[in-house]
Amino acid sequence: MNKLPIHSRSDTAGEVRVGVDSATGSYDVLYGSGLIGNLSALMLREKAVIRPTSENTGIFVLSSPRVSRHWQAKIMRGIGPRTVRSTVLFDDRERMKNIATVERVCRQLVRLGADRRALLVAVGGGVVGDVSGYVAASYLRGVRLVHIPTTLVAQVDSAIGGKTGVNLPEGKNLVGAFYSPQLVVADPETLSTLPDREFRSGIYEVIKYGVIGDTRLFSYLEQNIERLAERDLATLDFVIPRCIRAKARVVSRDEREAGLREILNFGHTFAHAFETATAYRRYLHGEAVGWGMIAAARLAALVGRFDAEEALRIESLVRRVGPLPPLPPTGRSAGVDRLIEIMRSDKKTRGGKLRFVLPRAIGKVETVAGISRERVRDVLSALSKRP
Ligand SMILES: NC(=O)c1ccc[n+]([C@@H]2O[C@H](COP(=O)([O-])OP(=O)(O)OC[C@H]3O[C@@H](n4cnc5c(N)ncnc54)[C@H](O)[C@@H]3O)[C@@H](O)[C@H]2O)c1
Ligand SMILES: [Zn+2]
Repeated sequence: MNKLPIHSRSDTAGEVRVGVDSATGSYDVLYGSGLIGNLSALMLREKAVIRPTSENTGIFVLSSPRVSRHWQAKIMRGIGPRTVRSTVLFDDRERMKNIATVERVCRQLVRLGADRRALLVAVGGGVVGDVSGYVAASYLRGVRLVHIPTTLVAQVDSAIGGKTGVNLPEGKNLVGAFYSPQLVVADPETLSTLPDREFRSGIYEVIKYGVIGDTRLFSYLEQNIERLAERDLATLDFVIPRCIRAKARVVSRDEREAGLREILNFGHTFAHAFETATAYRRYLHGEAVGWGMIAAARLAALVGRFDAEEALRIESLVRRVGPLPPLPPTGRSAGVDRLIEIMRSDKKTRGGKLRFVLPRAIGKVETVAGISRERVRDVLSALSKRP
């Protein structure tokens, strides 16, 4: 179901390589159109694996039924059907990102004969990547992993940085591990089958990279946001590698979130509150981040840390991506208090103090603690009155 203006390029001339340094092993992220058609040669070249010799016991593809429907045949051809020992499919709905799914996948791997020398190839969005990453980290205390991210979010964010894990009924991503893949292969062609809402949701995270550290990307998006939404290949080729580089830079310097990595949470304190208050049903994650960035930009301007005109630039860019589902009911004061309480219990909060990543300028953000509830309340009330 290729409804996009994405052209197939069989050569890999336009390939981009970005290195990520990690305590659990350094690896490269490769980006380029047509790369998945050539996986076998790529993995051989990158020494990530391949070849059913005594050194490795074959490749196990982990994916979901939906992703597999679109991409399984191409991936199999790319890896070489005889090299793939088996494919394990699991439901990639967010509510299935849990320990039960990890257990099921691990048990299947045992039954399929995967040993320590197996290689897992995760093909899918963030849910497939997070589950597969955790499986790879824990199955037989660690087997090799290659990520093939197939959503915009996964290509610019979740497949890079080594965070893996699953949800508990008590909250998101509460059980997990840092675990490096051998290789990440991001092919923009795979985005051609992504539903429009999912693709747009990824654009908000792209905007985030502009605000937190890349003025040029931000201006480019102001010029080209519609083209990006149409998935124009030249636009993807500019945007995605820039985001990959930004994420790689941040996580390489601060793998375990001591400081710098925190800037990736721009818009996310508000976003998590919006998602939690609506029981994860109303928004795709990126959409909540869209609202979160608007709220954070307004908050920064309100407390005098950020130029109001610049805040408006962020807001209008976010709004150009498309309509956002409505905010949780913040008009009533009980609604606002609930949101503030959720933010105070966010796992990134320290000592119950509200902390926000706020822009100083477009391209520069900082973490600010101790902002009063009243200012946060002002922002939320104003937003809900004139959303
Ligand atoms: N590990 C990290 O650092 C990190 C960072 C950001 C987000 N995440 C996690 O990622 C998850 C969200 O990931 P996501 O936004 O990629 O969504 P997703 O994995 O939920 O995928 C969205 C939907 O698109 C489908 N899909 C995926 N690729 C497709 C394709 N090419 N064509 C058609 N359909 C396709 C999936 O089946 C799914 O229904 C969340 O669980 C979040 O917590 C993790
Ligand atoms: Zn996010």
